[in-house]
Amino acid sequence: MTATVAVIPAAGRGTRMRPATRIVPKALVTVVDRPAVQYVVEEAVRGGADEVIMVVDLDAGHLVQQHFLMEGRLPGLEDIKIRVVVQEEPLGLGHAVWEAAEAVRDRSFFCLLADNIVRPGGDVLPALAAASQGNSAVCLRRLTDEFLSKYGVVVPGSDVVDRTLDVIGAVEKPGPEHAPSDLGLIGRYLFTPEIFEVLAKLPPGHGGEIQLTDAIDRLASSGKCRGYVAEEDLLDVGTPRGLVEATWVLGRSQFPDLE
Ligand code: UTP
Repeated sequence: MTATVAVIPAAGRGTRMRPATRIVPKALVTVVDRPAVQYVVEEAVRGGADEVIMVVDLDAGHLVQQHFLMEGRLPGLEDIKIRVVVQEEPLGLGHAVWEAAEAVRDRSFFCLLADNIVRPGGDVLPALAAASQGNSAVCLRRLTDEFLSKYGVVVPGSDVVDRTLDVIGAVEKPGPEHAPSDLGLIGRYLFTPEIFEVLAKLPPGHGGEIQLTDAIDRLASSGKCRGYVAEEDLLDVGTPRGLVEATWVLGRSQFPDLE
């Protein structure tokens, strides 16, 4: 199963990137020559999306909209339909995805976190689609202990064969003592519309936020979730260190003579 619509949640507060994000939203922080979220939209298009729904906050919404939709569309993105929906309060990633329900309707969709960029040549959406086998699918990486308290971690339901497996549960930021495995959720997903039914009924979880990981847990525990273990990690521009690394990696791919 694949999808032609992509949801990009970009309404987080971006507190780890202050003061850069006092006025400029995290999604519009520049990486080399374009805002971070433009790399993510370009990836969605390469993955087969012809429609992108961005979830933005009230303050930043019009800036993101202007970047993509003002006259003279961006090269390579001329034919894509771009829509912006507003998450009025940052109630969590799960809530941000739920805000896109009306625009997505009954379609399956890719979900790409706005502050995670793939490394050059590291696209994962086609592999995620292949792994899904008609179900939802999540992109995973093997994490070292220190990251088990920073990411959602899944409960594997089978061995990993050809980088894919059944997923039967998920826990948000469990930490090394409670982690059910070392397989962490890394910001690329393919969901059937069933995720909206789950999100609509989901109570707040870790940190008082509506957690996407909890919705994945519900799907997974009813046998409707697959995992794909990616070869490479994503570049996380949500922290100053990650932004420096992303600038270096993406800059080097444009300017190979940089040392
Ligand atoms: P983060 O966990 O990075 O949170 O969100 P954040 O609020 O953006 O950043 P910090 O922690 O304050 O520095 C992961 C993704 O989920 C989106 C973010 O925009 C980012 O793409 N998100 C998060 C929302 O769209 N809405 C939310 O309520 C929370």
